[in-house]
Amino acid sequence: MTWSTNQIRQTFLDFFSSKEHVIEPSAPIVIKDDPTLMFTNAGMNQFKSIFVGSSASSAPRIANSQKCLRVSGKHNDLDEVGRDHYHHTMFEMLGNWSFDDYFKSEAIAWAWELLTEVYKLDKDRLYVSVFSGDEDLNLTDDHDARQHWSEFVSQDRILGFGRKENFWEMGDTGPCGPCSEIHYDMRTQLDRDEIDGSTLVNKDHPEVIEIWNLVFMQYELKKSGDLVKLDKKYIDTGMGLERLSRVLQGVDSNYDIDLFRAIISNLENISNQKYSGSDSMQDVAFRVIADHLRAVSFCIADGQLPASNGAGYVIRRVLRRAIRFGYSYLYITQPSIYKLVETLCAQMGYSFNELEANKSLIEKVIEEEEKSFQATLEKGLNRLDQQMDEANNKIIAGDFAFELYDT
Ligand code: ALA
Repeated sequence: MTWSTNQIRQTFLDFFSSKEHVIEPSAPIVIKDDPTLMFTNAGMNQFKSIFVGSSASSAPRIANSQKCLRVSGKHNDLDEVGRDHYHHTMFEMLGNWSFDDYFKSEAIAWAWELLTEVYKLDKDRLYVSVFSGDEDLNLTDDHDARQHWSEFVSQDRILGFGRKENFWEMGDTGPCGPCSEIHYDMRTQLDRDEIDGSTLVNKDHPEVIEIWNLVFMQYELKKSGDLVKLDKKYIDTGMGLERLSRVLQGVDSNYDIDLFRAIISNLENISNQKYSGSDSMQDVAFRVIADHLRAVSFCIADGQLPASNGAGYVIRRVLRRAIRFGYSYLYITQPSIYKLVETLCAQMGYSFNELEANKSLIEKVIEEEEKSFQATLEKGLNRLDQQMDEANNKIIAGDFAFELYDT
């Protein structure tokens, strides 16, 4: 069967509903009440106070699809986005939570059941990782997770990694714990025969990718650097919807999934250029715009307009990055990116009503930013050309370079 991204999301929610989880809507992507975070960067953010024991959960089991943005702070993927095929600024994180209810054994068993029996992923292409301990944290190997995985997966597919890969921390402080990731090998059979997939896990291989992270929340990291054991145990999982779609739709790039193809194809019409999925700067620009348009639209829908400071400045920078790539590589010199909001709403409006409800505001804000930044770019690039002529391709004055950057 061919899975649409909307079906994949719904199937995840239905599966966890059948395991007695309460299905909740996504929390807003813009965070107003946590001084340590501007944007939701993981599904668990909204549950932070429950994990550290200062509030109670509304249900022992919850599942949702959370809008996340990773463009600032500890989890920041902005520079990668568009250059590779699997990073995004905004992405959807499918998550299931247990608040002092089930723990490792059920989390692992259900993840395996959903991936292999419902989505019917090839077991032979799946690898799992577990925390192998860390001296600084004074923690040893996660023997329990290994044990639970060994009910489903052979030993050679259970890989141990340290703190960087397998100890999940929300930020410099906050709830944290050992985690267990599930990776999928999308390579051709020929490539798989040549190099064993287990050697490529966590090596930034574009076709051997992490799809799901199961976090066993058991600690809180304090400002002092101390790790304090929590009174209760929690499960926090996050699966990247776009990556899962890529795997289930059998395409080489996240940007080839139904959702992004629709946006990119409209961008081809608008720019009169062709997307070929390569690593050329022109194709990077297609991906940057498709990704950033979505991120910025969702932030505006959640009440964050571009501005000259704080969260609004982050949004402005993301939008300007899209405008700059469009200007330089797709020759978009007139406001045009805002026209893609229509396609985005057609793809995602059904699952996220806030998009449809704020459609004309989103279009207007993006169009205005395009107008003013395209004019700035034109002026700046003209001045740069002039300076380069004058400098005769030698050295451009530092104060001039700073002025261009600053303004
Ligand atoms: N909190 C975990 C993550 O973001 C699931 O990867």
